[in-house]
Formats: sequence, C-alpha cells, structure tokens
Amino acid sequence: MQSKEIRSRFLKFFEERNHAVIPSASLVPENDPSVLFNTAGMQPLVPYLLGAKHPAGKRIVDVQKCVRTTDIEEVGDNTHLTFFEMLGNWSLGDYFKEDAIKWSYDFLTNEEEGLGLNSNRLYVTVFEGNDDAPRDEESFEIWKGIFTEAGLDPEKRIFFMPAESNWWSPGDSGPCGPDSEMFYDVTEELTEGMTKEEFIKADDEQKIVEIWNDVFMEYEKKEGKVIGKLAQKNVDTGAGLERLAVMMQGKDNVYETDLFEGLMDKIKEITPIHELINPEVKNRSQEEILNSTRIIADHVRSAVFMISDGVRPSNTDRGYILRRIIRRCTRHMRFLRLEEGSLVNLVDIVIKQYGGIYKDIEGNKKLIRNEIQKEYEKFMKTLDTGLRVLDRLFSKYGDVSRMEIDGKDFFDLFQTHGFPPEMTMEEIRRRGFLVNEISMLNSFQEEMKKHQELSRTASVGKFKGGLGGDDENSTKLHTATHMLNQALREVLGDHVEQKGSNITPERLRFDFSHPEKMTDEEKQKVEEIVNQKIKEALPVTMEEMSVEEAKENGAMGVFADKYGEKVKVYSVGNFSKEICGGPHVENTDELGTFRIKKESASSAGVRRIKAVLE
Ligand code: ALA
Repeated sequence: MQSKEIRSRFLKFFEERNHAVIPSASLVPENDPSVLFNTAGMQPLVPYLLGAKHPAGKRIVDVQKCVRTTDIEEVGDNTHLTFFEMLGNWSLGDYFKEDAIKWSYDFLTNEEEGLGLNSNRLYVTVFEGNDDAPRDEESFEIWKGIFTEAGLDPEKRIFFMPAESNWWSPGDSGPCGPDSEMFYDVTEELTEGMTKEEFIKADDEQKIVEIWNDVFMEYEKKEGKVIGKLAQKNVDTGAGLERLAVMMQGKDNVYETDLFEGLMDKIKEITPIHELINPEVKNRSQEEILNSTRIIADHVRSAVFMISDGVRPSNTDRGYILRRIIRRCTRHMRFLRLEEGSLVNLVDIVIKQYGGIYKDIEGNKKLIRNEIQKEYEKFMKTLDTGLRVLDRLFSKYGDVSRMEIDGKDFFDLFQTHGFPPEMTMEEIRRRGFLVNEISMLNSFQEEMKKHQELSRTASVGKFKGGLGGDDENSTKLHTATHMLNQALREVLGDHVEQKGSNITPERLRFDFSHPEKMTDEEKQKVEEIVNQKIKEALPVTMEEMSVEEAKENGAMGVFADKYGEKVKVYSVGNFSKEICGGPHVENTDELGTFRIKKESASSAGVRRIKAVLE
C-alpha cells in the first residue's frame, strides 16, 4: 500500500466516524515560544486539549508535519528522520478509551477500510500505574476483549509497562496522560504470543516496532510535576506515516519506502561510484556511501518543508537548524562527489512528491529552490577553504601524540572561516584521531568565551553531540565512563571492549562489545560497583608513559595502534587504568550517584548504555 493510500484511508476512516479533517498546522508553532518546531501532532492542539473550543468540533483527524532534531546524529540508520508526518485522531473532551482503542484496532486490522494488518502479529502495552495515576485497568480490559474476540490469548498480547514508556507529555508543562502503544511484528514469526520478557527482548532487537500510540490525556503537568486532572478527558493519538509505510510495504527501513524511493534512486544514479572507490580519492565503504545517501535524502526533505513554512537560513534558532541541515547535506553531497547542480534536482523531486498534498510547497516552489541553492553555494565556499585549512592542521599534528589537538586551532577555523565545529569533530573522527573531545571542547569554549561578541547561536551550547555546554558535568561523566568500562568487564567478562563514547553535559553514552542484552541483575550489579567505587573516594591520577609501558601496566585503550609515543594513562584508584587524554575529576567522591538509564542494541554484537550522574 502506497503512503498516499495510507494517508487517505486514515483520514477517511475517522471522517466516517464523525471526525472533522483539519489541515496540518505549520511546522513553526504559532503561539508556543518553548519549541522551535512542532515535534508531535498534539502541539498545535494544546489550547484545545486544555479546554478551548476548537472551531472544527470535538472530534478531529489530521496528518501533522513534524520536525525532530534531537536525534540528528542517528539519521542514516533504519528509522531516524528529521522530518516526518504524524497521523492522529483526536477527542477533545468527547470519546475516551473505549472508542479510541477499538478504532485503533479496527483501522490497523480492517482490510477494506484500514490497513489489513494481521492481528496475530499485534502486541500492545498499557500503563502500570505510579503515584501520579493508577494502573490502567480500563485499557487492559478493552484490549482483553478485543484479543479474546480475535481468538488470541490476551495474557500473551498485553503488557503493563512503567511511565518511562507509557506516559506521554510534550515537555515539562502541559496536558499529559498514560498511553497505550501498539507494536507490530516485522519478522512474521512472532504470531503465537509472547511473555513480557520475550516482548521486551523482541522490542530491543527491533523484531517488533511501535506503530501507534493512543494517549489518554486527562492530566496536567507544571514544571515537571503532575498537578491534577484537566477539565476534560482527551484522546491524542499518533502514528508515524513513514513507519506505517515500512510495515505496509514489507521493508526494513524508511528509505526503501515509496516516500523516499524517488530521492534515493536519484542520488544513487548521480553518485559517481567509480570515483569514490578510486584509491586516490580514498576507499569509501559501502556503508559510508549509503549513510551519506540517506542523510542527503532526509535533509533535503526537511529543508524543503522548513522553507515552505517560512523558515530561512540564519544564525539563530530555527534558521540555524535549517542552515545546519542544508550544510550537513552539502557536506555529504561533497563526500559523494555529487555535482553542483544536482541539489536543485533533488529539491524538485521532493516538491513534486509533496506539492499536491501540501499546497504551500507548490506555491513556494521557486523560493524553496533559490533558498536552498543559495545556502548550498555559500557553504561550498566555506567548506573548500575550511577543509584546506583543516588538512594543513592535521599534517601539523602528524605522528606525534594525536590526543593533543588544540581547541584554539579549531576555534580559529570556526571564527575566521565559519567552518562548523560539529563538522570539525566529524573530520577528526573520520581521520581516526582519538578525539580528546573534552579537553578540545574546553579549550574551544575558553576561546569562545573570549569572543563573547559573537552572536547568540555561536555559543557552544547549541552544537549538540559533543560540543555541549557545562564542562564540569562532562568531566564528571568522562570519569564515570572509565568506571563503567571497568565495571562492565567485571560483570560481563573481558570480552567487553569500548566501541564508542559520546558525552554531553547531561549524559554519557558508551558502546561496547557484548553479544546479548544485559539482564536487570547485570545492570544493577554494574551500577552497584560504580557507586561503591564512587563512595570509596578514589583518587584519579595521571601518568605519562609510552604505549608499550601502558600496555604492560594493563591500561585499557581502544585505539592503541593509533597512538604516538607518549600517552597519558589515567587511573581511578586501583580500580581502572585507561589510556586517555583527560580531563578527569580529581576524586570519585565528586561524582554523585551513577544510574544506567538505558541499555539497548547499537549494532550487531555491540550494546549501548546511556547513563547519568544524579
Ligand atoms: N502525542 C503522542 C506521540 O507523539 C501521540 O507519540
């Protein structure tokens, strides 16, 4: 089923159940300064969820354009996108759980009117309850009736889950409530039902994928706390069109659906593959090429929609996000050696595909093309200069200790040539340097402070993923990362090796080799070890030595073959010893409490932990 058909069936299904079809609101929120873009279908409807009268009535259905850039670094994998369309049906103080759940199920499974999905591949979750709201027995009973009627065992289909996954709110303040999520088995093998444990595992392994969420919005949050019930009970539902297309078209990623087919084909067609694999140019892996192809496709689509909704490239707020998206797209185009003129062709494909659905796109055709091309050309100039300077800088570092990259040089690159810091980071990583991110960022930030006259967006805090604000927190998380690495080896075994690390002021992210999902007990044990060592107030010390000496001393270090002669080895008491550029805290008693927030698959044989210090 083509995406156009999914869209129109959804609208018609609810229209026939007395819902008024309303057009998507602009991506740019009208009266909500707290967000740059609408990130969910409910955002433009907040006043009505809070009780204002909607001119179209109490039952509404729409397809809302959304932009989410928090996960921009993951774009290129199978599921993450910066722009997507969210299908939603709404009850503004009208029907509640009974109808919402029944219609969701009917739309998913009905062949004539809906998507005709198999009920024996469907699984759902409901809220297990906490201090804010009771266990959602009502939704459970409704689902139980539905599955029983379909001849399926409810015990093996419906799972109670905590607020972490089954409570939805748009942020710290606003309407919110428990939700019921629907998952579909993409393997076609999980038709017999599952235990809760199997369900969690299947979700983690992406054998089942969330396709729809029914939120029962009857509560209100203020500054992060639920303060009570709303004047009315609402239903807010959200189903990502791109994901539904993946299911309906039997694909395993969004880029192979009809929504991306035209763009992906075109980019592949114009990529001069011979040149890419030419040794003089440097061998590029198929994976890197595919990744760039996907990033270009995603970013072109987002840029078209943003401009059509009135955003222009600039140095502040949404303009800066748009600028960053076009620039990142440009860089990947350059990486694939796509010709200058090809961007406009890609833009035209998006315009053609969506022009009939969103009339602002058709009406702004010329302007969209011009804005994107203008920004592209401007940035190509910056890139050419910047990459030349960067090459010179890298040759300066040559073979000596590669960890000592000086933030000042890179700041100059940004300051003088406008070369974006996040791209500098990407280039450093791509060239195989061990990024001493923290110390580089610190010196970058120091330079930045000296140049306060720079515009607001130039503040380092805006560069997500690496160049994040608070150095002190990052330093603490850096030390915690070493401790986590060691604790994982103690709990899981010596096969654990660091595969990647990324620290923001809020959290650490650590990728490591391990063949399977960690159990709750294992996670708890790791937390206990780290917290125990924090309590022991271990001193953190540094010694310089040769790589050989470091190895003899049993120091861990993933990029050992890339090091120069002298390296720094950081020890956390007798607990951990690791080759690293620092900086670290002086004593573990500065760290607070270590908590694992999430453990999930990163790629085959590699797990990912996100953790915080509280
Ligand atoms: N507001 C809910 C979501 O975005 C439906 O998932």
